[in-house]
Amino acid sequence: METLIPTINRLQEVFLTVGAEVIQLPQIVVVGSQSSGKSSVLESLVGRDFLPRGSGIVTRRPLVLQLVNVAPLQERLKSENGNGVKQNAQSSYPGVKAEEWGTFLHCKNQIFADFQEIRREIEAETERGSGDNKGITPEPIYLKIFSPKVLNLTLVDLPGITKVPVGDQPEDIEAQVQEMILSFISNPNSLILTVSPANSDLATSDALKLAREVDPDGRRTLLVVSKLDLMDAGTDALEVLLGRVIPVRLGIIGVVNRSQHDINTQKNLEDTVRDEHAFLQRHYPSLASRAGSRYLAKTLSRLLMHHIRDCLPELKTRVTVLSAQYQARLNSYGQPVEDHSATLLQIVTKFASDYCNTIEGTARYIQTSELCGGARICY
Ligand code: GDP
Ligand code: NA
Ligand code: MG
Repeated sequence: METLIPTINRLQEVFLTVGAEVIQLPQIVVVGSQSSGKSSVLESLVGRDFLPRGSGIVTRRPLVLQLVNVAPLQERLKSENGNGVKQNAQSSYPGVKAEEWGTFLHCKNQIFADFQEIRREIEAETERGSGDNKGITPEPIYLKIFSPKVLNLTLVDLPGITKVPVGDQPEDIEAQVQEMILSFISNPNSLILTVSPANSDLATSDALKLAREVDPDGRRTLLVVSKLDLMDAGTDALEVLLGRVIPVRLGIIGVVNRSQHDINTQKNLEDTVRDEHAFLQRHYPSLASRAGSRYLAKTLSRLLMHHIRDCLPELKTRVTVLSAQYQARLNSYGQPVEDHSATLLQIVTKFASDYCNTIEGTARYIQTSELCGGARICY
């Protein structure tokens, strides 16, 4: 997994550079009603506070969040000083003195080592794109988080499904948000993480309804049941979590995120995970090992790996075809190549051939990998 996704991420960058959306890449997209806990779930997956959250419509632009696993700062500094193993430019990040940091596509050269500032930048960029009065816009914000503690995943945070327009929102806000969500989840390479609060009726979940539209067989839909701690006294979510209310093929995972009070009092994520674990042990002892944010993270990485494995043959075919097309165009330029776009094409062609090698290596790696053995999730 860790060796696989940087390659895919790099490929995505190259294609972004040449302005082509050639290959649909696997990504995890969160879908749910407003304030169901989508941003909170994503934050717990990342293990850092940095997303704007709260009641009402807080997430108003899609946020494409690419997590990049990097070596710990000490190791990076060592390799910069010429000691230790020589690393390639991709993994060394010379000059970055932070353990964890973020960058935005809209201000590429700025390093955000302070996660509060990342949150502020998301808020500011949201306002730049969609105004300061609850408007929404489909234009994504692209954020990368570099950390030794993250799995290499691409996650997409989306505005929540909403019914009634407020502020500057247009009359057809519901349709607009649905269209935006569909544009992300109809990508067959998206894993759909539907988030539904335990204190509302699952049968009316708009998120699951939307997921069904694009994934009728449930091959890439997972359900997260949030707010287990907010259920009425005397009720619990056991039936829901066991899949007896609505079965979800890839799994149903209950979580307890931070409450608004926890956010206001700046409860940290470690304490949150510890309390979540205690809560699950107490209220759902039979399910505790198959619930919670940590288990969700593990499940996602396993699903993603299976997903990528299944996409490899198709990806390889497409890259090969593309590479041949670029090669043909390159040849038509003749020698020497001076044209700027030709240089880009050369890079892409070279990249495509590297990529094919990586795909083959990856396929072998996945076949022999422990992660793929054991409890196999059908996909
Ligand atoms: P989003 O609109 O779906 O992105 O939801 P947010 O993550 O912004 O959360 C909305 C509100 O619900 C915030 O005040 C969160 O603190 C709160 N919240 C989210 N998940 C939980 C949970 O599991 N338990 C409790 N008590 N509150 C939660
Ligand atoms: Na919200
Ligand atoms: Mg949100």
